[in-house]
Amino acid sequence: NWQYSLRPKKLQEYIGQDKVKDNLSIFIQAALNRNEALDHVLLYGPPGLGKTTLANIIANEMGVNFRVTSGPAIERSGDLAALLTNLTEKDVLFIDEIHRLSHSVEEVLYSAMEDFALDIIIGKGPSARSIRLDIAPFTLIGATTKAGALASPLRDRFGVISRLEYYTPESLVFIIKRSAEILNIPIEDRGALEIARRSRGTPRVANRLLKRVRDFAQIKGDGIITDEIADTALAMLEIDKMGLDHIDRNILLTMINKFGGGPVGLETLAAAVSEETDTIGDVYEPYLLQLGFINRTPRGRVVTKLGYEHLGLTKTE
Ligand code: ADE
Repeated sequence: NWQYSLRPKKLQEYIGQDKVKDNLSIFIQAALNRNEALDHVLLYGPPGLGKTTLANIIANEMGVNFRVTSGPAIERSGDLAALLTNLTEKDVLFIDEIHRLSHSVEEVLYSAMEDFALDIIIGKGPSARSIRLDIAPFTLIGATTKAGALASPLRDRFGVISRLEYYTPESLVFIIKRSAEILNIPIEDRGALEIARRSRGTPRVANRLLKRVRDFAQIKGDGIITDEIADTALAMLEIDKMGLDHIDRNILLTMINKFGGGPVGLETLAAAVSEETDTIGDVYEPYLLQLGFINRTPRGRVVTKLGYEHLGLTKTE
């Protein structure tokens, strides 16, 4: 599908995240030279920054198979055992949302990661016995929005821990222009910059907005994405100059109007705006924090002076 085709296949085509990319490039080359599996990699950071894309690229660069699953999808340790015994040497197993693995599954993962072995219990009761099964040396790539949510025995078994950062508008301009070329969308530099500035540092958002702005350009303009068309389209989509949508604004306004600007706990806030706590914590809060519109205190979240000003309000002490 289109989303897949927008995804770069090589590290060289992957834009931004220079620190992560430079390090991975060295680890990949070194592993290839030694003819070994790459060490296990943990990728963490907000959603939409390209963790799956990067994992796919790593497998590609290593020249191995890429198997995908997720924490919630692995219900029983037998499911994980089935996945692991089907890997061939040096394959990449990608586990998205790895912080959501159950304890019993996590236990099986420890010896798999460390010794490339599975300890399996056969039978029940007094006749039960444990056998050890060797598996092919593989690379586990785990992705999570919060590295802090991982149990330390699991975190400690990753040889490489990389944190993905929000992209700069300059990097997003490159990504948007690359996507526009692949999708055959005519776009001016200033149009790309307007979309980039309002994409909350996130390629997934940038690519989505690009497609929506194209629709406006087709119907309301002459098909070319200019800064003017982008501005009109994004205003109609209720995405403001800083990339905030109606949910971001609702969060800020609720904090101000119902909780006196805070402090307010995440769960209380989520209930007040009728959103999932995880969505607020993984998607909305990190971006509002990054902009400096909210702060975290020991007693909860507070709206900052900057946050008030963005809404055209003044903070009174
Ligand atoms: N598409 C999504 N993320 C990307 C990235 N970092 N570089 C290039 N294209 C992308």
